[in-house]
Amino acid sequence: MQRRDFFKTLTLATASFALAACPASSVPPEAGVSIRPGQVWRDTDGAPINAHSGCVIFQEGVYYWFGVHCVEGDAGNSAQVGVRAYSSRDLVTWKNEGVVLAVSEDPRSPIARDCLLERPKVIYNESTRRYVMWFHLEPKGQGYRGAQSAVAVAEHPAGPYRFVASFRPDAGTWPVNTPKALQKELNAEEARRLGRIHFIGGEVPDYPGDLIFRRDFRGGQMARDMTLFVDDDQRAYQVYASEENGTLHVSLLSDDYLRSAGKYARVLPGGFNEAPAVFKHGGRYWMVTSGCTGWAPNAARLAVADSIWGPWRQVGNPWIGEERDTESSFGTQSSSFLQTSRPDLVVYLADRWHPENPIEARYVWLPVDFREDGRPYLRWRDAWDPRTPLKPAP
Ligand code: GAL
Repeated sequence: MQRRDFFKTLTLATASFALAACPASSVPPEAGVSIRPGQVWRDTDGAPINAHSGCVIFQEGVYYWFGVHCVEGDAGNSAQVGVRAYSSRDLVTWKNEGVVLAVSEDPRSPIARDCLLERPKVIYNESTRRYVMWFHLEPKGQGYRGAQSAVAVAEHPAGPYRFVASFRPDAGTWPVNTPKALQKELNAEEARRLGRIHFIGGEVPDYPGDLIFRRDFRGGQMARDMTLFVDDDQRAYQVYASEENGTLHVSLLSDDYLRSAGKYARVLPGGFNEAPAVFKHGGRYWMVTSGCTGWAPNAARLAVADSIWGPWRQVGNPWIGEERDTESSFGTQSSSFLQTSRPDLVVYLADRWHPENPIEARYVWLPVDFREDGRPYLRWRDAWDPRTPLKPAP
């Protein structure tokens, strides 16, 4: 079964569960009043905000939100428009800044209309003073087989972004945390063994954890769900789901953030994590991921490390609540974290997908709860206001 079909089956089987699992909100959907996770959010023109699986950055007093513009119906499961941006001074009132990276009408373009363009993330490079966008790209008509990273760049946060390149990252380098004995390309027997396995984007029995990154040594590593993270020293990293979604890679970017630098580590091999979202708090690196069930929600996982290179250790599900809600992460899948200038305010940015009609996907933003054990937690709130101090969790 193709990955899309596999996920469609999963999605249809779980969509009604996901909706039932989402708590109904009693708060009326007024614009510009507070953040209301899961409701329709409107921009300053009154139009529903359309920016999925993205990120928010903060630049000179202004927040910029980037995300994929989704259209109605089945066509909305591929890119018809591109990446849209919004700006805000308070995280609540959002002005439409338009389409900042448009799909191309040229069918030969890597970002031709109908490609799959997912999870755009933008970071600012202090030395080049450019805004650099990375996203997951699947060339038109190839399903999810391409597994590429793509890069675009702009002089201003609200664009326009110019497409730079798409590629599989980290070609021709061995992971920093892999034994020397595994730093060799596949022999014929290993290649045959790998060729017999039918990968479905989710867990497979006897996952051949030692083979896939070696198969992809020359051509570059598979890169699907992804995020970017900039550390205090301005070094930036792409974290991407690789090796047929079974293993994450943490990959250093070049100083100008436009390429992968050729240094990467394998993280949680065979763990089947995707939708990675990373932030730093209390001197440690935290990562929330989902399991690999396509558009259907599943129980999120939290991992922690003292170094971005790992070792990463999984420490359970970050959600607090009734089991029926935490096992679906309240119907959400992580997209990124926003670290604000307030140390007490780190925001979980997530999507609640709607693959039958992608334009109906909703945003769920929630402040992270830091408790005395130093560990971040997520819990549901019907509404919250980032402009006022957060009330402690009940
Ligand atoms: C999800 C992934 C999404 C999208 C989807 C396609 O698991 O997180 O970004 O790729 O699969 O089925």
